[in-house]
Amino acid sequence: MLSRLIEPARSALPLASVAIAGMVLMLSAPSVQADEQTRSRPLTSLSTGFRFTEQTGAELFASVCQGCHMPDGGGATGAGTYPSLQKDSNLETSGYPVYVVVLGQKAMPPVGAMMSDEQVAAVVNYLRTHFGNQYQDAVTAEDVKRVRP
Ligand code: HEC
Repeated sequence: MLSRLIEPARSALPLASVAIAGMVLMLSAPSVQADEQTRSRPLTSLSTGFRFTEQTGAELFASVCQGCHMPDGGGATGAGTYPSLQKDSNLETSGYPVYVVVLGQKAMPPVGAMMSDEQVAAVVNYLRTHFGNQYQDAVTAEDVKRVRP
């Protein structure tokens, strides 16, 4: 799982691999800390507590998505297949990318679990209006909230 996160970026984009590796480290750090707290806290709280700090769609895409989908959204094929998001007709139904970002899909982790509703909406709206996509019906934080598990 972790190697799958890191591999495509390592082969194609060294800087992004550092970012992704950093993300993985940040993800694992709180659980070490949490071990000491399990006696007093319920297990369900272990995975909360980390959020991306970027707020705009462009910043979020650069930090969270492009390590796999590439800076131009063109995707990559190597150790795994990372689909192109350019001129992507699957994005026409706005609920679909919201769903994929919040819940993950196959090899894509549920990165939206580490974002606020506003952040998910921002990165989805950015994606749907860039990389050759021209879907102007913006999604809202409310739309994201409805998809949350
Ligand atoms: C760890 C690698 C990884 C990261 C990080 C990642 N994705 Fe993905 N993404 C994938 C993979 C792999 C798939 C294909 C999933 C499948 O097989 O259905 C995918 C699929 C998608 C799809 C569906 C595309 C289609 O045409 O059906 C969308 C939309 C998407 N990703 C958006 C994003 C956004 C937005 C971000 C950042 C917030 C992001 N992804 C971050 C790996 C990643």
